[in-house]
Amino acid sequence: MIEKTVKVAHFSDLHLSGGRDRSKIAALEQLLEVIRGARYDHIVVTGDIVDSAAPADWMVFRDILARQGLYSWDKVTVIPGNHDLINLEEEMRFYNALNPDMAGRKRRLHRRIMRFCEVFRELITDSEPVTGFPFIKILQYDRIALSLVMVNTVYPWMPVENPLGARGYVSPGELSALQTQDAAAALEGSFVIGVCHHAFRIYGTGFAIDEAFDWTMELINRQELLQTMRGLQAGIVLHGHFHRFQAYTYGGVQIVNGGSFQYNPRRYSEIVIRDDHSFSQRFIDI
Ligand SMILES: [Fe+2]
Repeated sequence: MIEKTVKVAHFSDLHLSGGRDRSKIAALEQLLEVIRGARYDHIVVTGDIVDSAAPADWMVFRDILARQGLYSWDKVTVIPGNHDLINLEEEMRFYNALNPDMAGRKRRLHRRIMRFCEVFRELITDSEPVTGFPFIKILQYDRIALSLVMVNTVYPWMPVENPLGARGYVSPGELSALQTQDAAAALEGSFVIGVCHHAFRIYGTGFAIDEAFDWTMELINRQELLQTMRGLQAGIVLHGHFHRFQAYTYGGVQIVNGGSFQYNPRRYSEIVIRDDHSFSQRFIDI
């Protein structure tokens, strides 16, 4: 009997800077052509598609996917990173120390998230209207059902608490939506992949200089997200954000950092899932 598998390709942190970024666009097209040629069942991109937080730049990525015949819900999953959603210059311009306006920041981020979901609507839902995060895809491949659980970890810019806009946080509402009986029941029997932008582990060396850097990048409530993913029986969680290609375990869960296309556009992560739900992961250089 031929062994049935599902193959997922994952890369991250493209940091495209618009349609004039010819060399990066060519490299992206080449990577996608290789992935298409290798017949992956699904492609996951874990955020920081663009560098500028400009929706016009999101469109460049959307057009590339469309040209490659990949712009559909069952083929590709995309989530935003902080660089897709937070425009630091704009935040600083609006900032007023006497009137911190946290509500305004939250509102701007929420609007951006919804706009991102509208722009990439065909990658988020097959027929339902978009409702933002979390969202779930359940894909059936012959004998294997694959579920993807997408969580937003981008947290509003704040002058003291999140000065680079790079710290992550999952809202309690998102976590509780995934902690329901309904969510667990919907995913039952499938191989579950969690998808977010921020890293569970950064340097973690204990050196003060690394700790300071870790703090600016960290996923603040990573333990809660991990518990939630564990509750959903996630076999693996994919992320980007910290520009390293890494596979590691965190709290007993297999985590993969899809690294940085920006630093190496010729490497991606492959996950192969078998019908007994065992899986293997490796990084591939093209
Ligand atoms: Fe990021």
